[in-house]
Amino acid sequence: MKNLEEYVRSIPNFPEEGIIFRDITSVLQDKDSLKLAIDQMQDTIKDIDFDIVVGPESRGFIFGVPIAYNLNKGFVPVRKKGKLPCETVEMEYDLEYGSAVVEMHKDSIKPGQKVVIIDDLIATGGTIEAIVKLIKQLGGEVVKIVFLMELEGLNGRDKLKDYDIEAVIKYE
Ligand code: PRP
Ligand code: ADE
Repeated sequence: MKNLEEYVRSIPNFPEEGIIFRDITSVLQDKDSLKLAIDQMQDTIKDIDFDIVVGPESRGFIFGVPIAYNLNKGFVPVRKKGKLPCETVEMEYDLEYGSAVVEMHKDSIKPGQKVVIIDDLIATGGTIEAIVKLIKQLGGEVVKIVFLMELEGLNGRDKLKDYDIEAVIKYE
């Protein structure tokens, strides 16, 4: 079997000139790499005490839900603005390409809950920084943040200095 990182497809100049897009569709479509990705991300949190998984739209859903299910926890989706039907809190942030607004339902995290955030990739860290702020606003405590991939050159960790972060695959 190949190493997990060999299944990630790297596409130069997508969606913009100068960006190397790390494509996970090639990881998801193969049963071996799908299992490796879920298992390796899950292993980083299997022994910690936490209450709930939070994952951002859309790639955070793909990894967050199976890991929450496997560890017998609930899952809270963070969505792009305008998609959630009940009362929300929202935060604007910048991405490697562009900017966006994310929302969470106000009642999605109960005060004092210990939260693990799961996403496919950290680039600038803007997405997760915004989500950490929302979780804090709702009274939750972020105890760990897990990514499949980290683009180290973009220094996303600098925005998240106070947090315990794991990335299974690292790119310079
Ligand atoms: C991508 C990726 C992360 C985020 C990382 O999501 O899945 O969530 O960007 O970038 P950052 O560290 O610079 O914030 P995107 O917003 O493109 O949405 P998608 O998953 O729906 O493609
Ligand atoms: N999200 C932000 N930057 C990305 C990249 N280089 N590849 C895949 N997803 C991304």
